Amino acid sequence: MNGVVLISGNGSNLQSIIDNAKSIDLTICCVVSNKMDAFGLKRAAKVGIPCVALDETLFDSKLGFDQEIMKVIDNYQAKVIILAGYMRILSADFISKYFGKILNIHPSLLPKFPGLNTHQRAIEASEKIHGVSVHFVTKELDGGPVIAQESVNIDSTDNAQTLAKKVLDKEHVIYPKAIHWYTQGRLKLVNKNTATLDEKIL
Ligand code: GAR
Repeated sequence: MNGVVLISGNGSNLQSIIDNAKSIDLTICCVVSNKMDAFGLKRAAKVGIPCVALDETLFDSKLGFDQEIMKVIDNYQAKVIILAGYMRILSADFISKYFGKILNIHPSLLPKFPGLNTHQRAIEASEKIHGVSVHFVTKELDGGPVIAQESVNIDSTDNAQTLAKKVLDKEHVIYPKAIHWYTQGRLKLVNKNTATLDEKIL
């Protein structure tokens, strides 16, 4: 299945998707970044994946920016859009157009800690368990139906950095697995807000 991956930064999730692409039946047609200096662009270029970096400061509107990404997606006839550390909120038009085809990975056990700084917030909330969620993207920020989650323990010695590392290790395993379910046609978004795997509600 053809897919486009959207990134904003380091791209360690992108790397795990690149490394697993063959075995998860995914062709990464293009990597798009909203940050010109995202390290993930180098990871993609290194293995010959076309990259597009869009300069946010050159666009007046959120929709205008997203329209450029839509052109890329349609140009490659991508059937799945994979957000991998993409830190920009998508426009409603974008989400409607590709509804049911956009996957995101978020570093918390949703519905806990949507938004930013999830690791620090989990520590400050004295949580004992934290983790990662893969979900379908809907108009609710970090609110679409959850596809898969993995948890990690928060130890008394953890800080936001050590916790992020533990969570990222889980991310790199769980995301390719969930993407594979999608490329196999086993994972679907039904009735606008329900994720199913093999026709069973997740
Ligand atoms: C990951 O932890 C990912 O879950 C998170 O950004 C990090 C990107 O790391 N995404 C979000 O917070 C989205 N709301 P990476 O660039 O090394 O893959």
